[in-house]
Amino acid sequence: MSSRSRPDARGLRTFRFAAAGVPCEVCVGAGALVRLPGALGRIAPGRWLVVSSEPVLTAQGHRLSEALRGTPGLDPEPLLVPDGEAAKTWTVLGKLLSEMARRGLARDGGLVAFGGGTVGDVAGLAASLALRGVPVVQVPTTLLAAADSALGGKTAVNLPAGKNLAGTFHHPRFVCVDPRLLSSLSERDHRSGLAEVVKSALLSASFWRRLPGLVDGLGARDESALAEAVERSLRVKADVVSRDPDEALGPRHALNLGHTVAHALEGASRYRLRHGEAVAWGLLAALRLSAARGLLPGRTAARIEGLVRELLEPPPLPRAVRRGWPALLRADKKRDREGLRDVLLAGPGRPLLERVSAAELEESLPDEAAS
Ligand SMILES: NC(=O)c1ccc[n+]([C@@H]2O[C@H](COP(=O)([O-])OP(=O)(O)OC[C@H]3O[C@@H](n4cnc5c(N)ncnc54)[C@H](O)[C@@H]3O)[C@@H](O)[C@H]2O)c1
Ligand SMILES: [Zn+2]
Repeated sequence: MSSRSRPDARGLRTFRFAAAGVPCEVCVGAGALVRLPGALGRIAPGRWLVVSSEPVLTAQGHRLSEALRGTPGLDPEPLLVPDGEAAKTWTVLGKLLSEMARRGLARDGGLVAFGGGTVGDVAGLAASLALRGVPVVQVPTTLLAAADSALGGKTAVNLPAGKNLAGTFHHPRFVCVDPRLLSSLSERDHRSGLAEVVKSALLSASFWRRLPGLVDGLGARDESALAEAVERSLRVKADVVSRDPDEALGPRHALNLGHTVAHALEGASRYRLRHGEAVAWGLLAALRLSAARGLLPGRTAARIEGLVRELLEPPPLPRAVRRGWPALLRADKKRDREGLRDVLLAGPGRPLLERVSAAELEESLPDEAAS
């Protein structure tokens, strides 16, 4: 799974894996949208509906329309959800399901999620509930979704009690990543997405060795560097997900590297921080804690930290976040009776699930995270 496939005549790379018995095909490369109509026809012969949001369609809808023109069964009118987190509510989910029924979606059809992680999460949940489950195809338009959330089958809406508290596992049948779709992302969303790329690289020794060669291209948002980084990230994730499709066995926990701290920081910012900005600080904290525990040699930790900072440039945290995050850490939903477990690192490609205390995690956040 970790070695890369050969590019086809168009320079696109495809790999396949299965999660919980569901076959999934992943195609990555500039122009990958040309593979979408064929994939839809192979997966389900009936009606296909696109779920997206207004800003995503304004920025990139023309590429999707062009790629899907004349596709049999496709409803040309996308189902719209509100932008960002506002898409991930019961109300939106209910409207989506009603509209899918009204438009005649049947068991021989499916949904295409065209957008960032928010569109992917709510569309995935709608697909898993409609008619007890119709196929979903993910076409990510943010780097975060392309490198991480589009694959893995986690779907969710938020509840007043917290983020992602209602959801299912519903694995996509096809993930289509065209880095051209990412050209209109804000600089902030681009940097934020890179945090998941760096996380994946830390989970694979071979990806980590390659990362320095991609730094300049990723900074410049070069299409081929982005395609390679996303493909490698998705291979790392596919490898873990195929072994532990619903996070029951353990391997999948590795994907939470940096995320215990990140979730507390995000919560304390009332979700004003981007997920990736919080993950960047979470990765630095995990490195420091791994070194403090003697799991990772100090020199290695410092070298890794240098590259993480160069790529992610994590912005200083507002004082309110600094003050509020420890309380949220103590309320973490992944905590069990004996306390928190978190992913530490014995080196690139060597994650370890360890018991940690909230105090240790607090200590490990670099001081200059404060503004
Ligand atoms: N399911 C999973 O495994 C998983 C993993 C990580 C995160 N998530 C979820 O993903 C969500 C975050 O995803 P996100 O960062 O993609 O956020 P998002 O979907 O809100 O997108 C961020 C912003 O970018 C805009 N945008 C999207 N594509 C664009 C494009 N091509 N050009 C210009 N603007 C564009 C959107 O309109 C939005 O305002 C969170 O809800 C998080 O819980 C899910
Ligand atoms: Zn994440």
